[in-house]
Amino acid sequence: MNPFNRIGLAAFAVSMFGAATFVTAQAQDAPHGDAGNGKRIYLAVGCFTCHGRAGQGGAYTGPAPIVAHTALPFDGFKGQIRDPSDNMPAYSEAVLSDKDIADIYAFVESLPGPRSPKDVSVLNN
Ligand code: HEC
Repeated sequence: MNPFNRIGLAAFAVSMFGAATFVTAQAQDAPHGDAGNGKRIYLAVGCFTCHGRAGQGGAYTGPAPIVAHTALPFDGFKGQIRDPSDNMPAYSEAVLSDKDIADIYAFVESLPGPRSPKDVSVLNN
């Protein structure tokens, strides 16, 4: 095989792999996010200033809802970030990629959400 054919074959293999990845991503409802990286981004882009470090919501800058353990599907979550329903600032793709949003989604999903005081062990002594 001459070297040019090899390059052609490699390019073909890469494009097939790309197509397969695309199909897999389409098949899932919510992309598989990285919660650890999502936490880092959630803090870096200021979500926490309104929604709290534990996603508990807040009133510091006006009422901001709880996002911990969100019941929103990924599309609704992303829609609110790109095109907020009311007072929340919009985050464009230049600021947050879809992957960043998927990572933030994984992070807020991983948060426990509201807890009873009985679940806070130090209060049960
Ligand atoms: C300046 C304050 C502020 C910042 C910063 C902010 N939000 Fe919001 N967020 C709000 C407010 C207020 C609402 C209520 C709806 C509205 O005003 O658009 C909201 C609504 C939401 C909702 C819908 C919750 C629900 O259950 O209806 C989600 C999800 C959300 N924000 C996620 C985020 C994420 C993720 C970030 C960071 C990328 C972020 N917000 C940054 C104030 C903020």
